[in-house]
Amino acid sequence: MVRLAQGLRARFSLVHLTDPHIPGEDQARVRGVDTAARLAGVVESINRLWPAPAFVIITGDFSADGSPAAHRRAAALLRALRVPVRVTLGNHDDPETFRQVMGELGDLLGTETCQAFDVQGWRILLLNSKCPGLKEGFLGPVQRQQMREELAKNPRPPALLFMHHHVLPLGLPWVDRDNLRDWYEFLEILRDVGNVRGLFSGHAHQASRHEWSGIPFFVTPSAGYQFFKDPTQARVSPEPPAYRLIAIQGGMFVTEVRPVGSPEEEPTTDPPSPSPRPGG
Ligand SMILES: [Fe+2]
Ligand SMILES: [Fe+2]
Repeated sequence: MVRLAQGLRARFSLVHLTDPHIPGEDQARVRGVDTAARLAGVVESINRLWPAPAFVIITGDFSADGSPAAHRRAAALLRALRVPVRVTLGNHDDPETFRQVMGELGDLLGTETCQAFDVQGWRILLLNSKCPGLKEGFLGPVQRQQMREELAKNPRPPALLFMHHHVLPLGLPWVDRDNLRDWYEFLEILRDVGNVRGLFSGHAHQASRHEWSGIPFFVTPSAGYQFFKDPTQARVSPEPPAYRLIAIQGGMFVTEVRPVGSPEEEPTTDPPSPSPRPGG
């Protein structure tokens, strides 16, 4: 029998930021977009939020190319955030480089496989779906067991999950082939523990909301660039960068995507490819 914490007096907000894709070189553009300038704008927007969020969760793809310089530039931009930051990795991030470069920044530490912490009676889990050598997501048996144990700890509170890769298909074949490889085992855990209230992912560079067994699964747009919802190819849309605000009160939450400004530049269209790999 699932026992959920009753009478929660929680009241706080948090931000989900994902996929900034910062290049290693100054002035370089990614898919025609100045992602560094866009991330700076996103950080500024988050810093202006009132009331200030309790923390920001960043679900990876910090770098466009996995280079130390890219991670260093991403870290420098993110250090301007005036609230605590928790992070996990995306498929574009190199774990060893990340630890060496971003680990020195103190509050950006935290690439353990499964990070769990409690806030005002809610349990927050950051899962690392980055698997070396794979573009698709994979948690693996060790992390899945950690996830199960963290969620099942008593008292069993309402929980929110965050990770880079999406779990449910979005209807876009070129992005759905990168979703979580061990999705079936992941869903089994959600079914068994019964206290997960929402899942937040990135990677797809667009907003989406699906539902599984009454649990909402959200995808948050990129802080760098978005893709058109075109099932045939990956093309960068002129939509602006964005982040997601999640406001929690008592035992429920509401969430909305916050676009940041208008794009100052028209993104370029990627060269035609017989098998587009969008780099989400
Ligand atoms: Fe990704
Ligand atoms: Fe991405």
